Amino acid sequence: MAPATSSTSSAITLNINGEKHHLPVDHRTTLLDALRERLDLTGTKKGCDQGQCGACTVLVDQRRAVSCLTLAVAAEGREITTIEGVAEGDELHPVQQAFLDLDGYQCGYCTPGQICSAIAVIEEHAAGRPSAVTEDLSPEAAPQPLTPEEIRERMSGNLCRCGAYVSIVRAVARAAEAHAETRTAGAKETTA
Ligand code: FES
Ligand code: FES
Repeated sequence: MAPATSSTSSAITLNINGEKHHLPVDHRTTLLDALRERLDLTGTKKGCDQGQCGACTVLVDQRRAVSCLTLAVAAEGREITTIEGVAEGDELHPVQQAFLDLDGYQCGYCTPGQICSAIAVIEEHAAGRPSAVTEDLSPEAAPQPLTPEEIRERMSGNLCRCGAYVSIVRAVARAAEAHAETRTAGAKETTA
């Protein structure tokens, strides 16, 4: 039997959706292949395998990452969330629910990546991080709304071959509104 660790492979531990997975990997193995081929987490999709379509998007330490360009060994010690881990038990994540309610998909192949990206986009916007189309970048600028233009720009790394973009933008906007309402209610509770 081959040793778990050699000059070209290592035994690593990946923390995925709150569970630790121990596995030996060739150093060239991408996170995408580790998820799909080694751990049977096939919700994350392979489209282009070269960082251009966004189908393989997952969250690494709450930031989105294309798993086809992330080496599995580089993901060790990070908190990885895949589409299989975004729901709370039987309760869908608000972004999943919005995609379902507003038909934010057709064939569904790009959808796991779209949803993971959208979750991060909403957090990035709520944290005040600007995009290439954010107009007022001055430090004293009031928080700016997550407009359809902002959503299109921030989600531009996620392609949809079915062209479901109109519904995807609506779904992200709906989920962002729900997220903002939850934050406002939480802030009121804290100050009450
Ligand atoms: S499969 Fe990773 S970006 Fe296309
Ligand atoms: S829903 Fe088919 S590729 Fe996006």
